Amino acid sequence: MAVSAAKSNPKAAPAKNPGPKDNIKAVRQAYYEKISSHDMAPLWEVLSSLVSKEPHSQCVPAHWKFKDIKQFVLEAGDVITAEEATRRVLILENPAIRGKSQVTNTLFAGVQMILPGEIAPAHQHVASAIRFVLDGDGAYTAVDGEKTIMSPGDFVITANWAPHDHGNTSKKPMMWLDVLDMPTINHFETSFANYFDDPIQTTTRQDGDSYCFYGSGVLPDGTEASPARTPVINYAYARMRPILERLKKTGVIDKHHGVRVRYVNPTTGGWVLPTMGAHLALLPKGFKGERYRSTDGTVFVCAEGQGATKVGDKLFEWSQNDVFVVPPWVPYAHSAGKESVLFSISDRPAQEALGIWREAA
Ligand SMILES: [Fe+2]
Repeated sequence: MAVSAAKSNPKAAPAKNPGPKDNIKAVRQAYYEKISSHDMAPLWEVLSSLVSKEPHSQCVPAHWKFKDIKQFVLEAGDVITAEEATRRVLILENPAIRGKSQVTNTLFAGVQMILPGEIAPAHQHVASAIRFVLDGDGAYTAVDGEKTIMSPGDFVITANWAPHDHGNTSKKPMMWLDVLDMPTINHFETSFANYFDDPIQTTTRQDGDSYCFYGSGVLPDGTEASPARTPVINYAYARMRPILERLKKTGVIDKHHGVRVRYVNPTTGGWVLPTMGAHLALLPKGFKGERYRSTDGTVFVCAEGQGATKVGDKLFEWSQNDVFVVPPWVPYAHSAGKESVLFSISDRPAQEALGIWREAA
């Protein structure tokens, strides 16, 4: 056709003969198609995206206001019971990867609610979970035979395969943030779970035993180092908050993170879990944090106060119980108009164990 068109229009450019470049393109394409039918592919076509010069997260920064969370979670109470749902949780999905039940590539985040009189039945699973209590007072989580009564700001650990159930014997709805390493476990395709016949596990210890025995600067005789999990069930806010206050008075204020502590496993001094690690940070009134970034995508919760965090080119203005996420290697900087406390959790322990964690200003 091209030849006849050139004949009918003398001004038209003559058809270009295929050059060596076109030839090699066609040759390569034919080759790729041939090997594709044998489930093979050329690395050189994808190498730059597989081995990028620096991390490029598929996730984006996102912010959930607690007033929205609370409204929608309360509405869920009209739709389904905690027992029917097994866990009545609204998933906080990263907007860039909707439908995957992930807030980052490695973490799940959701907000769970239990209404007065309800229980969430006992089960266990390979995925580890943490709870950060947002609203309500007096519901419990039972873990490994210890029933801990939860209050806002409490940090409750449910490690790999620990039996756990929740119940609300208070008069108010109870809400908390759940963060699990589920995407990591499912990446390895190692998920197991088990549901018990009895929805409420038998308690064998008193509330607070685990913190008293293991979190008080002593360890009972015979305690062995347990790198896979902390023996403490609940790092109660009532115990953590005064530590930040005392630390503030010493003047040790990090220029990025404020007055910050990390939750530790008292048998090792390491992180509370091998897959997830958490911090609690006090930002003094007027704090203007410097830019920081790290390879661990991080979920933040405002436990107290009001402030803002610049994440990449977005500004999140947060207040109490808001949740926001910073993807890996996206720079961020906190500021606080009034004294504020931020809880944060990430997959940093897993990255450190693999020797791949990095940070930069
Ligand atoms: Fe669970």
